Amino acid sequence: MSRTVYVNGEFLPEEDAKISVFDRGFLFADAAYEVFPVLDGGIVDADAHLARLARSLDELDFPAHYTPDEYLPVLKTLVRNNKLHEGLIYMQVTRGAQDRSFNFPKNADPTVVMFTQQDTIADDPVAKTGITVITVPDIRWQRCDIKTVALLPACLAKAEASRRGADDAWLVDDEGFITEGSSNNAYIITKDNKVVTRHLSKAILHGITRVSVLSLISQTNLELEERPFTIEEANGAIEAFSTSASAFVMPVVSINGNKIADGKPGPHAMVLRKLCLEAARQSAAETPALSPRHRIKKRSS
Ligand code: PDD
Repeated sequence: MSRTVYVNGEFLPEEDAKISVFDRGFLFADAAYEVFPVLDGGIVDADAHLARLARSLDELDFPAHYTPDEYLPVLKTLVRNNKLHEGLIYMQVTRGAQDRSFNFPKNADPTVVMFTQQDTIADDPVAKTGITVITVPDIRWQRCDIKTVALLPACLAKAEASRRGADDAWLVDDEGFITEGSSNNAYIITKDNKVVTRHLSKAILHGITRVSVLSLISQTNLELEERPFTIEEANGAIEAFSTSASAFVMPVVSINGNKIADGKPGPHAMVLRKLCLEAARQSAAETPALSPRHRIKKRSS
């Protein structure tokens, strides 16, 4: 069935949703994006994702053309039009269309596109077995804190993972420290019950799920250490996991073919996953998009 897609103020059937071949998002990856999780027909952490998008656009010198609040009703309408109970909303803003020129256009209107994808996030069977990762050099640029659509290094990393029979790739900087996953933040848990994840800087995306998970650590017997860690340290960890809007907390069970502990999802990661999902459902309930009738109908079916 055709989805409804949002393009520049219009809700269109996906076959009719088109943008210009001169769009700078297409020509130069001159665009930023967000991925919003949807649970129980509500949007998770909507304000935080909209605020990060506004920041990305600001860092890229986009002319200020909207306030984050403006797009919340649009996101909700899109979820409603697509009857999306669980999945993701993708939102992209480009600098607009003009004849190809490296210089920023003087008066192009930004292109704004949003679409939904149905997905099983909460009961994802993959979380029960965990994922395997390999490590690859982090060949991205020096502003990984900006969520741009220049994702070819991430695609190459995932392709390499797939070639080597793994599910995902963790990226390693020039000093041998892991920055983050190809499309997620990366964590290990050490023998002394410390959750270690790279500190915030321009080297990683400041994950919205990361904020949620770090705030939940105080509800466990774990402690937090925000600092870089190496592959060797990860190999000696008792658990590992990654976080993202599309997977929440995902246990990592091996790195470069070396099992983490017994090679099964660790209990701490599973507790953090449960807490994170509870927090996400609460956030979704605070930003409902589907009508109550649809939210309940789908849950009980
Ligand atoms: N990726 N790091 C990178 C490089 C990412 O691309 C993402 C998200 C994250 C996690 O951020 P958050 O918790 O806000 O989703 C970290 C999204 C899901 C994507 O590109 O599909």
